[in-house]
Amino acid sequence: MKTSSIIFAAFAATVMGAPAPAPRPQDIDLSSLSFSSDDLPTGPEFGANKESIPVSKPTTNDIVEDIKDDPASPTRKLRRGVNTLLKRVPGDCAPQSINNGPQFINLEPDDWQAAVELAYPATNPPTIGPYKKVFDGLRGSVNQIGYRGLTTLHAYDINACKTLCDKKAQCLGFNFYVERDPSLDPGDLCPNPSIITNYKCTLWSFPFLAGAADNIGETRKQFKVVIAASVGYVKPFVASNLANFTSFGQDLYGSINAPLLDGVNSYLGVKSYPSGDVNVDYFEPAVCAAACDAQTAYNSRHHASTPCQYKACNFFDAYVVLKDGKAQGLTCTLYTWTWDDSYAVNGGQTRSDGVYKVASSYTYTNSRLPAPPYINTCPV
Ligand SMILES: *[C@@H]1O[C@H](CO)[C@@H](O)[C@H](O)[C@H]1NC(C)=O
Repeated sequence: MKTSSIIFAAFAATVMGAPAPAPRPQDIDLSSLSFSSDDLPTGPEFGANKESIPVSKPTTNDIVEDIKDDPASPTRKLRRGVNTLLKRVPGDCAPQSINNGPQFINLEPDDWQAAVELAYPATNPPTIGPYKKVFDGLRGSVNQIGYRGLTTLHAYDINACKTLCDKKAQCLGFNFYVERDPSLDPGDLCPNPSIITNYKCTLWSFPFLAGAADNIGETRKQFKVVIAASVGYVKPFVASNLANFTSFGQDLYGSINAPLLDGVNSYLGVKSYPSGDVNVDYFEPAVCAAACDAQTAYNSRHHASTPCQYKACNFFDAYVVLKDGKAQGLTCTLYTWTWDDSYAVNGGQTRSDGVYKVASSYTYTNSRLPAPPYINTCPV
């Protein structure tokens, strides 16, 4: 499917009739996108047995104000972002909730992992309904932006975990794993408590790949928390039309990489979220729609170099950048012109600091017509 879409993209005639080989001015360095997610949750706290985390949803005003301060630009040098902290609470020998699933007691970490892997081999189905398996049999749990909560189950039951994702708004993936947990919160008075084996299901509102499952546990006093039989599934976002924007391309191979349009750049720039001012930790193309309109409004006020016209945002691509398998957030590339799916060719890049992949790429076109790339602002 993916291979054929690359071939198709390379040879397809375009509906827009753009010139064949031309520079692709928005060839974005995915490693230069700036995400700031320090205060957004990236996974369960130590000892969590059940939690539900609401999404972080920005207001349109946040998005508009952010564009005023930091407008998209096709040339601007982008800031580098820093990501993620895991906060942990110290231990006081408090009893941890007991779970009644199959237990693997009195086993040291290596033996515990081997026993769990023997009981639950990495042979989970490649798909379950719309979900696609992206890893299996790992010794780590997912740790990234878009954490939506945890439920401790009573058995190795990926279908139960799937059902929780089905029911959770904005859920795009789940991670089911087995964890060797202490029966008491380890502290000076109880440095190495007995074992509880927990069956944990976490839900995520961004997709991920195997690289996201890098939480391999931790040592608390003398107790080693370890993980085994971790399996991850993701499903496609279900796109629908937005107010003023029509859903145009669905789960594309990559992000749009458009040539010049009759020698003119249709690319307006990129916005990445969460940013300091716009906290969003789920895949929400409506955020890009608000950014697109805010950018048009901004351009209408700042057009000194082209006094009678400014560039309007008529099309955007909403996608997720994964760095080494981990979602970084929501990215929106803004354009004056609508580009068809054959231009969705940027599937990722390898940079010095990691491997970047584009996931969940969806395009939307302005439905308020006519929507030319330029709007005349001079009085007639
Ligand atoms: C849709 O466009 C109209 C006209 O520009 C505008 O008044 C309205 O606020 C827009 N709706 C949304 C949800 O942005």
